Amino acid sequence: MPRILNGWLPTCGAIVAGLWILSKVFNAVHERVFPMIYPSMMDGITVNLAKDLMPIKRDLFADLPMLQQRATRSGDDFTVLEIGVGTGANFEYYPEGTKLIPVDPMAGFDSYIDSNAKKFSHINVQKLVLAFGENMEEVADDSVDVVVVTWVLCCVENVDGVMTEIKRVLKPGGKFYFMEHTAALRNSWTHVLQRLLNPAWRKMCGCSMTEETWKAIDKAGFSKVQYERFNAPLSWTIKPHLVGHAVK
Ligand SMILES: C[S@@+](CC[C@H](N)C(=O)[O-])C[C@H]1O[C@@H](n2cnc3c(N)ncnc32)[C@H](O)[C@@H]1O
Repeated sequence: MPRILNGWLPTCGAIVAGLWILSKVFNAVHERVFPMIYPSMMDGITVNLAKDLMPIKRDLFADLPMLQQRATRSGDDFTVLEIGVGTGANFEYYPEGTKLIPVDPMAGFDSYIDSNAKKFSHINVQKLVLAFGENMEEVADDSVDVVVVTWVLCCVENVDGVMTEIKRVLKPGGKFYFMEHTAALRNSWTHVLQRLLNPAWRKMCGCSMTEETWKAIDKAGFSKVQYERFNAPLSWTIKPHLVGHAVK
């Protein structure tokens, strides 16, 4: 028998097979366990991180009371649809009397939404719509005044599909507000690091650090788009952020 077959070749084969089996086991466990722990993980993480971004969010949502008053004057509900609502970390920013339609594909957030709805009882939180942002068929065309998305587009499979749905459900002239962590600008060290760490990050946190979100927003066909990039006071690779709004 050639010496190579007695030496490093079988060892390498055993290592590769071992790693392959380990990754299969990890994926199977991850698929089952992740949806169970994700809501409580998000409750701890996003709520704490969001505290540091309060001034940014206050600025972003500053004109909601004006939009709400305008809707009320014409005798309509002021309806906000929040995609990827999570635990309800944005409830505190919505003006008194807002009718909020929460959308999220994970049923596990239900109890967190309920408890936040009680805490922020100045808004009227509807039943959770269990859906992906790419397909919100329960929500009628041209039916909501505002759509909100924060830290969600990094998680979705098809950002263009979400944009199409946002434009479908917004009333003409309705507004889309967003705040997202994104890819850093190309040719930066942050971008290199994001690319290196992204596969592990995706598994651990369920989102991507390399989404160039502005591209999908730019090409979605809104009548007006306004955003700025900023560095959030978060760890290095999730510092690059995009905040802004778009009008249907
Ligand atoms: C990082 S959390 C952010 C939660 C909340 N928006 C916040 O700012 O705290 C991401 C949320 O997006 C939801 N999500 C993931 N994929 C989604 C999709 N395709 N459509 C809508 N929501 C999605 C997750 O279930 C989770 O609630």
